[in-house]
Amino acid sequence: MGTESVDESVKKLLSGGGKDIALFKVFLPESVMEPLREVLLSGYIGEGPKVEEFERQLGPWFGNNNVLALNNGTAALQLALRLANVGYGDEVISTAMTCSATNEPILAMGAKIVWADIDPWTGNIAPEDVVRKITPKTKAIMCVHWGGYPCELDELNAIAAEHGIKLIEDACHAFGSTYRDRPIGSHSDFSCFSFQAIKEMTTIDGGALVCKSEADCERGRLLRWYGIDRRVKRKDLRCEADIVEYGYKFHMNDVTAVIGLEQLKYVGKTIEKHRSNAGRYDEAFNGLKFVRPLKYKGDRSSVYWLYTMRVKDSQRFIEHMRKAGITVSQVHARNDKHTMFKDFRVELPGVDEFTSEQVSIPAGWWLTEKDLSHIINSVVEYDRSYRRFQEVRSSSGKCEKTSALRANL
Ligand SMILES: Cc1ncc(COP(=O)(O)O)c(C=O)c1O
Repeated sequence: MGTESVDESVKKLLSGGGKDIALFKVFLPESVMEPLREVLLSGYIGEGPKVEEFERQLGPWFGNNNVLALNNGTAALQLALRLANVGYGDEVISTAMTCSATNEPILAMGAKIVWADIDPWTGNIAPEDVVRKITPKTKAIMCVHWGGYPCELDELNAIAAEHGIKLIEDACHAFGSTYRDRPIGSHSDFSCFSFQAIKEMTTIDGGALVCKSEADCERGRLLRWYGIDRRVKRKDLRCEADIVEYGYKFHMNDVTAVIGLEQLKYVGKTIEKHRSNAGRYDEAFNGLKFVRPLKYKGDRSSVYWLYTMRVKDSQRFIEHMRKAGITVSQVHARNDKHTMFKDFRVELPGVDEFTSEQVSIPAGWWLTEKDLSHIINSVVEYDRSYRRFQEVRSSSGKCEKTSALRANL
């Protein structure tokens, strides 16, 4: 923990909030100001000791010390694809149910996307469809932990190993999630994280790539900064030796890193709050008929960046919650419908089912006890009113049938 409690920081942050209950909120404790001031005026603001320290402190969160701090999560995904040697004409099996930032880097590598369907009760890629989609051109599988709930990682890793291809986890929703008692970041070839403004932990913008192999991590360290090894002392300060492989400008800087270092003091507590809010919802919504939480297994733990439910008549629900002053959203549009991905369209019945009903409600650290009760009551009220609506509809249907019967007599 930092110098003040999460509750104290939250009170300050809430004073700047809007009038509706927010679906997302930026967590930036005031205690970040001092280290920020120090680094800003230090004369060194590029990638340096603070980035190294941030990577060291991230290691235990991922259960893996092969960490590269980067300037955003999209860069982490692109670097992972590059390290997986995905190139022109290769195929990457991916999910449509995500932020477009998952799939745009695949196009940037000149590769083709092959959509696999999802489990409509988790939003996550379905291993059985991944298997069906593998061809000799497949180079990698991309999976996304929807809302922070981990995918079927053992199955996906087994498929990747059998076919000699790489598994890339887009873990941008899942900082702090665990799968079978180990943190996300310790399971697959590559795991990609985002520290963008509204994620579990923000560095304003930022990201991390976590590699299973040390060799990949070392290559990634070069490629994140033009292919140059920043640790080698050069004879001439600005003049690099031969560059073997082209790289990118994807590195994190020390200013961003000090924000991350400060955030690490709080993120455990904020995640705890997300989980306890989600537990309250699970309990309150158990037994509802028209609003149903996703079906999660007990062998993994989400950080609940999203608390997603399947709701009958989702647009009506969104409007109902808006009127109650609660912001809810579908958050991400299915990617396969975007024009930029038009060449890859296939039937995805699981995605159809999920998108027709999925909606996320606020579940984060900023919710007060009053907010939680108001959200729970509003959801339960929607279920009740939808039940009444169904009953009226079915009884008027019966009336119509009876009058039709009478008319035929
Ligand atoms: C699933 C997913 N992947 C990738 C990204 C991209 O991360 P960033 O904004 O840090 O580039 C995001 C969100 O921002 C995301 O939600």
